Amino acid sequence: MTIKKRTLKDHLDTPMVLIDLDRLEKNIGRLAEWAKANGKNVRPHIKTHKVPEIADLQLKAGAVGITCAKIGEAEVMIEKSRADDIFIAYQIVGEEKIRRLLRLAGHPRLKRLSVGADSIEVAQPLSDAARRRGMKLPVIIKTDVGYPRTGVPSGKPTLELARKISRMPGLTIAGLYAYEGQVFEATTSADMRRLAAEGAGRLLSTVDLLRADGIPVETVSLGATPSSRFTVKIPGITELRCGTYIFNDQMQIRYGSAKEEDCALTILTMVISVPARDRAVIDAGSKTITSERSSEFGVFGLVPGRPDLCFTNATEEHGMIHVTSPRRRPKVGDRLEIIPNHVCPVMNLHDEVVAVRDGRVEAVWAVAARGKIR
Ligand SMILES: Cc1ncc(COP(=O)(O)O)c(C=O)c1O
Repeated sequence: MTIKKRTLKDHLDTPMVLIDLDRLEKNIGRLAEWAKANGKNVRPHIKTHKVPEIADLQLKAGAVGITCAKIGEAEVMIEKSRADDIFIAYQIVGEEKIRRLLRLAGHPRLKRLSVGADSIEVAQPLSDAARRRGMKLPVIIKTDVGYPRTGVPSGKPTLELARKISRMPGLTIAGLYAYEGQVFEATTSADMRRLAAEGAGRLLSTVDLLRADGIPVETVSLGATPSSRFTVKIPGITELRCGTYIFNDQMQIRYGSAKEEDCALTILTMVISVPARDRAVIDAGSKTITSERSSEFGVFGLVPGRPDLCFTNATEEHGMIHVTSPRRRPKVGDRLEIIPNHVCPVMNLHDEVVAVRDGRVEAVWAVAARGKIR
């Protein structure tokens, strides 16, 4: 079914992902303003939205480029968005991927492609392949500043890796980056500030080590949305790679970095059954909204403005809403909007999303980089 512009939101088929354009623009503008006021660059992570049109809105608001996780995402963005400076914040391993990476780096519209690396094993084959093609690939070293995922430990191990990479003929060191995921452990705003400062401190002292050794470090990049209000003010950090800030979600509400009215993405659903006084069932289950964080939060999403409705259970095609005040219980045919727990994997489930302003459809966007896992 094609969705016509100006269609009333209330006439849309369900379930449907809605993007509130006023809120989206506010979220883009807020980070852009913070960054401008503090002399930082924004290089948003597009893994959250995967929509070229949204990347273009971020670039129009001043983003210096975009961040992608996968080459496939970058391949879509170079063809369908205006992005011409892409950082792949991921370890590219294996011949086939390196071939695709270097082909992308030579794309006529691309001004710069940089890539992450956190070991010699990742960096050496990149250098070898780039050298064979007479290229020098900018590498940003992934440093572990306290979140146990990827990254060479901060401090001396990063310096040692940087020394080796600086001698590789096919690579240039463009900077350091980290993902400070430990901020998700914060339980108070003071805690969040402390964890953000500690993570940034580890990155910045590592930058000092490299510079003292004569290795130039241009980009000093951190990522996480919930701590960005603190990170943006830390001198020495040059770039923010936030992704989730574009929509926000229940996770961001719980971490104090957003309110319900900052959430730009909702899932429009329909009540399809009210089989008990305390239960309504909607047409969106885990295939629409995922099960992300449901065991931690006890719900699969939030019904904005309706604390009496708790989305406590889901199977693939059904969402079970526990009704705590039966007199206000929804009826079959009612529409409910849901703020998901975590937006990024929700976008990955949908072919298209509907951009809405003042209750009417303004655009339908293909989630063009969805499913690009390679
Ligand atoms: C490497 C990297 N950079 C940036 C981000 C964006 O973080 P957030 O979604 O908290 O804004 C992520 C998210 O996982 C990431 O893995």
